Amino acid sequence: MSRIISPSMLSADFGHLSDDIQMINRSQAEWLHVDVMDGVFVPNISFGFPIMEVLKKECTKPLDVHLMITHPERYVERFADAGAWSIGFHSEAVDDPRPILDLIRKKGCRTCLTVNPDISLDRLLPYVAEVDMVLLMSVFAGYGGQRFIPETYERLRTVRNFIDENGLSTLIEIDGGVNTGNAEQLWQAGADVLVAGSAVFHAGNPEKEILRLKGEL
Ligand code: DX5
Ligand code: ZN
Repeated sequence: MSRIISPSMLSADFGHLSDDIQMINRSQAEWLHVDVMDGVFVPNISFGFPIMEVLKKECTKPLDVHLMITHPERYVERFADAGAWSIGFHSEAVDDPRPILDLIRKKGCRTCLTVNPDISLDRLLPYVAEVDMVLLMSVFAGYGGQRFIPETYERLRTVRNFIDENGLSTLIEIDGGVNTGNAEQLWQAGADVLVAGSAVFHAGNPEKEILRLKGEL
């Protein structure tokens, strides 16, 4: 099982964005998580294409884009062209995820399907075999710095068992409230990728914090 860390840009210092990107480039983090919010699907607005362009130019790590927007199908092509490596969207935001997954694949990006903590796994499990990754939200999408919802462990184990029983290689990503106090338990429960925003960017030493999250320090 892999232990991939995807620090979330949402908690970066946008006044010194280049410094934070350089830190990510130097660090042992595998990916960079990019949270896009539209103020409609979630009650918050984050950032969009101009920031993507900066990341595309300056960041050496794959961009793991998490769309928290309605009508993700309208924006997949532009995010792919703006440098996304992986594109994820919420199952509950759409009627049928399949055409959007096809579009993401056609643009050469990795596919990820996401659900909020209150969404039945029935909205996720039928697609697990067709996507590169599933993202289980461990807080309600919308803001960084929220408290981890412990029911996530049970959901994580359910999805882990489903993947193992079906001999699949789909990755499981956990997003929201991840820190050094719960990372090891999440790895043990079967997570492959941990997103961490405030835990990384608000740490005294973010690079060391990334190693701690991986359990290497
Ligand atoms: C929440 C975002 C998360 C968030 C995580 O809507 O999807 O990626 O930035 O931030 P922390 O790690 O601070 O909970
Ligand atoms: Zn996210």
